[in-house]
Amino acid sequence: MSGLKTKNAFQPASSQSSPDSVTPMSFSRLVTLLSVVVAASAASMVLHERRAAAPPGFVRVGAAPASEMITLRVGLTSNNVAGLQDQLISIATPGSSNFRQWLSMDDVKAYAQPSAATVSAFNAFASANGLTPTAISPNGDWVSISLSVSKANTLFAAEFEQFTHPSINGLVTRTLSVSLPSELVGHVDVIHPTTAFVTSDVRLVPGMRRVTGRDGPAASCNSSDPSGVVTPTCLQELYGIPTTPATETSNALLATGYEDQWAQQADLSQFLSLLRPDISPPTTFKLLTTDNGTNPQGQFDAGLEANLDTQYTAGIATNVPLEFLSVGGFDFPTALFDTTTFLDGVPNPPTVMTTSYGDTESNFGASVATKICNGYMALGARGISVIFASGDGGVRGNHDSPDVCTNNTFMPVFPAACPFVTSVGSTQGFAPEKAINFTGGGFSNVFPSPDYQKAAVAGFLETIPSGFPGTFNKTGRGYPDVSTQGWNFQMVAEGEVILEGGTSASSPTFAGIIALINDRLITAQKPVLGFLNPFLYSKASSAFTDVTIGHNSGFECPASSVAFDAAVGWDALTGLGTPKFSDLLAAALD
Ligand SMILES: *[C@@H]1O[C@H](CO)[C@@H](O)[C@H](O)[C@H]1NC(C)=O
Ligand SMILES: *[C@@H]1O[C@H](CO)[C@@H](O)[C@H](O)[C@H]1NC(C)=O
Ligand SMILES: *[C@@H]1O[C@H](CO)[C@@H](O)[C@H](O)[C@H]1NC(C)=O
Ligand SMILES: *[C@@H]1O[C@H](CO)[C@@H](O)[C@H](O)[C@H]1NC(C)=O
Ligand SMILES: *[C@@H]1O[C@H](CO)[C@@H](O)[C@H](O)[C@H]1NC(C)=O
Repeated sequence: MSGLKTKNAFQPASSQSSPDSVTPMSFSRLVTLLSVVVAASAASMVLHERRAAAPPGFVRVGAAPASEMITLRVGLTSNNVAGLQDQLISIATPGSSNFRQWLSMDDVKAYAQPSAATVSAFNAFASANGLTPTAISPNGDWVSISLSVSKANTLFAAEFEQFTHPSINGLVTRTLSVSLPSELVGHVDVIHPTTAFVTSDVRLVPGMRRVTGRDGPAASCNSSDPSGVVTPTCLQELYGIPTTPATETSNALLATGYEDQWAQQADLSQFLSLLRPDISPPTTFKLLTTDNGTNPQGQFDAGLEANLDTQYTAGIATNVPLEFLSVGGFDFPTALFDTTTFLDGVPNPPTVMTTSYGDTESNFGASVATKICNGYMALGARGISVIFASGDGGVRGNHDSPDVCTNNTFMPVFPAACPFVTSVGSTQGFAPEKAINFTGGGFSNVFPSPDYQKAAVAGFLETIPSGFPGTFNKTGRGYPDVSTQGWNFQMVAEGEVILEGGTSASSPTFAGIIALINDRLITAQKPVLGFLNPFLYSKASSAFTDVTIGHNSGFECPASSVAFDAAVGWDALTGLGTPKFSDLLAAALD
């Protein structure tokens, strides 16, 4: 890697803690209160989530100090998440009577907010235990509570401990097991942070190669050029993406930024003057922030990921209003929750959101992954196309243990494996395009295969030979859904022209295409595409070029490592294939 900003001034989740300031008097009151609670509920704790051990890389330091204060977020159960899901699938499925009649902010809130019974059950629990919940989401489905470790251990039958991880500065406080008092069962979906152990190295940019002498734009995707540079012009030619500017100002394309990955306007201008000289050079993004996110513009503040995301959204979605959401903090699940709750409160949200971050699904655990994924369901219902990079570890996710190339238990990546996002894998080469070795793909262990993809996935499963040595979940949601080029993308970082790759490059490219189609739909006075997948797998399935070559064993692993092979039809490397803009537009307008 380069001298670019890769290390963060990390604030672990546990930094919310402050030294114990409980006075002896309040302490004894606390003890009394706790003993009452223990007496009342010790026999009625119900296990909520447990893991056998912390994931590889996390090292236990010791018990968390009993008096340390921690802040826990409590995800209250939505009153009708099944109803929202049914409604969304109907709205997103071609041919239904309410096709693309996306819901308003208030419509979604009516499904997502907790019931009165849930609110009163939680409030009763809080007041009986001296907790003061703070509402932290517009739909009322999240509250936070601050309490000591010892109290959290008692109330949730937990054992909070401190852990280190090489990607994390400082300590994180987590527990391997969390339970709910029986009166909260059915009212609380998730308590975080408890059993989710997510690293702070979740950007999907596997490596970077600086090149010299290639500062000029490549005229086209040159298949006889071994270094095969990809530029916006190359992508426009390859996929038939128009260069004509979008006209609709009500449309917006949002790129998310996490882990202090900052997007640089100066680099974007340089990128556009070099590779899209036809675009007005002052073209830039609107900065949005949440959780105290920032976006400093000092010369060495550029984040590779954020620059790649802003440059390729701007470079592809010509003249679509662009937004960059900088989310503060370093706990990735919290940042994902807060991205959805931020957008839940925006009356006129962007029509497309692209995210090039992810981690091994099992690190999140089922309750956290499900709650985040349901957050994307709610955004999809508002008419937002939620697009994610599929991961850069092939079939092995962000598996960073020493057996990374030989362990044949495949590791799905989240949020790419959430059924309410559109997951984008990577190809390379031009004639024909092939799946690149690192393209993330596989099957979720948390989310079952949704109806919209069952037939497509069944066809792929038939191509897996009997006796296949890889272990994966045949009933799980298969990903990615689609793919685009993902290697040798020319970009600008800190004033230098470099080549970059990763599914990080593919997600903004596909998002740019969807944003351009939305522009044309708005002009035609039609609703935007919103949650894409039911449309992609049915009416639009022939708007993709099938990619049938490739083996996703990972960037570092020998090609002989066990992995999936691309096949005719949908596959767990490139999904339905790479987009053909005019066919996709025609299917969208039809
Ligand atoms: C394509 O690449 C080859 C090999 O580098 C080069 O000789 C040729 O000039 C390139 N063609 C174009 C149109 O750039
Ligand atoms: C944002 O900053 C304010 C002021 O420093 C602080 O009170 C608040 O807790 C911060 N919020 C988050 C989510 O970090
Ligand atoms: C392979 O990885 C899986 C998932 O992390 C783990 O449970 C298993 O123990 C590993 N297998 C071996 C032989 O180490
Ligand atoms: C396989 O996926 C299903 C969801 O489709 C899940 O219920 C099940 O627990 C998963 N199996 C394993 C071994 O993780
Ligand atoms: C994976 O593909 C990339 C891009 O073509 C290449 O640079 C890398 O060497 C490949 N890895 C292996 C192990 O072949």
